[in-house]
Amino acid sequence: MAPEILPKPEPRIERFEQLGFGMFIHWGLYSQLGKGEWIQQIGKIPPNDYMQLMNTFSTEEFDAEEIVRIAAKAGMKYITITTRHHDGFSLYDTRGLNRYDAPHSLAKRDLVAEFVEACREGGLLPVLYHTTLDWYEPTFRTDFDAYLDYLYRSVEILCTQYGQIGGIWFDGNWSKADADWKLDELYGMIRRNQPEALIINNTGLGKRGELGHPEIDSVTYEQGRPKPMDRRGMSKYVAAEMCETMNDHWGIGKADFMYKSVPHFIESLCACRKVGANYLLNVGPTASGKIVPVQQSMLEVIGQWLQVNGKPIYEGKPVEVEGEGSNFALETPDGNLYLFIHHLKISGHADVTVEGGGPGEKKFMGISRKVESVRWLDNGEKLEFSQNTAAGTFSFVATSYSYGVNYVVRVAEVTFV
Ligand code: GLC
Repeated sequence: MAPEILPKPEPRIERFEQLGFGMFIHWGLYSQLGKGEWIQQIGKIPPNDYMQLMNTFSTEEFDAEEIVRIAAKAGMKYITITTRHHDGFSLYDTRGLNRYDAPHSLAKRDLVAEFVEACREGGLLPVLYHTTLDWYEPTFRTDFDAYLDYLYRSVEILCTQYGQIGGIWFDGNWSKADADWKLDELYGMIRRNQPEALIINNTGLGKRGELGHPEIDSVTYEQGRPKPMDRRGMSKYVAAEMCETMNDHWGIGKADFMYKSVPHFIESLCACRKVGANYLLNVGPTASGKIVPVQQSMLEVIGQWLQVNGKPIYEGKPVEVEGEGSNFALETPDGNLYLFIHHLKISGHADVTVEGGGPGEKKFMGISRKVESVRWLDNGEKLEFSQNTAAGTFSFVATSYSYGVNYVVRVAEVTFV
């Protein structure tokens, strides 16, 4: 294939990119301890003591329908849930493979069945996170071939017992980077049973954005802003996804106050979409399965932002148009251009609003079509502009927010003659 040729995305990958924004859920036995999902390992808890947490895993506040409602209200289009994390405990019925699963816990429920059902009802895509490394299953250390068979059969359950699923999101191959994980077999089984399901395998903090096995449908950026991907000459179009925590832990950290802000999340979402990547924002529900109020509230605000600015976030694609600083452009299939403007200020009374050089002329390069109109998406205000189509230069006069308003990132819609 000539290097300048761009691969076309397969339909499942194209659909995934259009989802844009998803919810990550880290929830399991560890949620009862409230110190993150790695506490068994980092706190050196003997695995058998740790598994006693099954006897108190009540899950009485886990309401999959409610979680789907919260995600949908936030503008999220898919949910990725930890069906089994590194501790080895499964939220799904392992159907005799082992006893370390939710049906054998105090909960006595197949939480994955409830989750998949609720996603389907609510119109969101269910994606199933599954660990590949295991701190509990002894064969992981003693007999890797036997372990891989166990892993295969575990994933096979997810691919055959829950109807159509959106994807499998693996995590943990980085723990034995040089091992032969027999991925052809594992991924082949997924493709056979779930041809529409995405296959993702987290490359971790150390190797963000790295391409892996040819069956992988999306690269991952754990806790880091995605970079533009040069897909010329690639044999397959691969998507990108950035996952991020709201504070410093995936699983609930009860004493972790290091919360990022709503502006941070809006900017992360924009930074992802700028390069065509998805944004997977994590929640760590409580021991009993409820989304923590502060997380829920922030998600609601993001949802309000998306109510106003969602169209280009979901439908927009990166274009060869350059803004200044973090300002950027996306193009939607109807041919409109959307300009994302950061750092605007509120105008109003000098005694109450913070002054500063936010508003004014915003310049872009690479717009050669003749512009018809420019207006803010949030209030429809028409904006003055000038352009030189031959040079591809364009600028418009960004007004400030009126008193009472600050969208963090403001979007201008550009239509063409
Ligand atoms: C890391 C962690 C894991 C977490 C994941 C989320 O790989 O090991 O705990 O689930 O990141 O991306």
